[in-house]
Amino acid sequence: MRKNIVAGNWKMNTTMQEGVALADQIKNLLIKSPNCEVVLCVPFTHLTSIAQTVNGSIIAIGAENCSDKESGAYTGEISAAMVRSTGAKYVIIGHSERRTYYGETAEILKEKVLLALKNDLIPVFCIGEVKEERQADKQNDIVKAQLEKSVFNLSVDDFSKIVFAYEPVWAIGTGLTATPEQAQQMHACIRQLIAEKYGNTIAQNTSILYGGSCNAQNAATLFANHDVDGGLIGSASLKATDFKAIIDAI
Ligand code: 13P
Repeated sequence: MRKNIVAGNWKMNTTMQEGVALADQIKNLLIKSPNCEVVLCVPFTHLTSIAQTVNGSIIAIGAENCSDKESGAYTGEISAAMVRSTGAKYVIIGHSERRTYYGETAEILKEKVLLALKNDLIPVFCIGEVKEERQADKQNDIVKAQLEKSVFNLSVDDFSKIVFAYEPVWAIGTGLTATPEQAQQMHACIRQLIAEKYGNTIAQNTSILYGGSCNAQNAATLFANHDVDGGLIGSASLKATDFKAIIDAI
């Protein structure tokens, strides 16, 4: 059966020292093994140190991005192989902030997903609609197109390794959360699209996380939905006790 996952996305927050301290705090709060996978997706500069900090604990680490190129003369880029070599297990791909602020197109994301998989990283692939698309009731079509353009090219074997995060863009960092009904509806829609393409077994085994102003107060009602398999947490993952409360909510 599919895994429940609670993943933090620290975005561009914390210095390396602050990040190590935060990871250490989270590690110390997780004395009892939670019934979900716990992942910290952290800035590139923090990966190696935080890998050491959480070594031997149940926490896995991930990057927030990787390059769409394999290696070579791409100044400033970080390849999937480099990410993997730090001990990271996951990589977020297609976050709306990357799509919007850094012009990452569906084609670029397709390359990133392939390279992540080739380097034994689990992509956490983000999809979701903007406010105007939701108001026009276009959210299902948007998400379908995002899947078709970046991941429905994959083999069954590769596809079965991916984790998805449904992140309605209007809910990210805004304090507006999808209602539990909106989240369940969209997660069920995503699972149905996967079933149509890859079959029901793969669809049932795919973890689909919710992201967008998920916090210690609303996590339990979001996670209670049948098709919501955990969360991708932004600002609430920067406070150890809040993040722990979200993990407990599963
Ligand atoms: P917030 O939880 O801060 O809304 O961010 C969500 C997000 O973008 C996770 O990737």
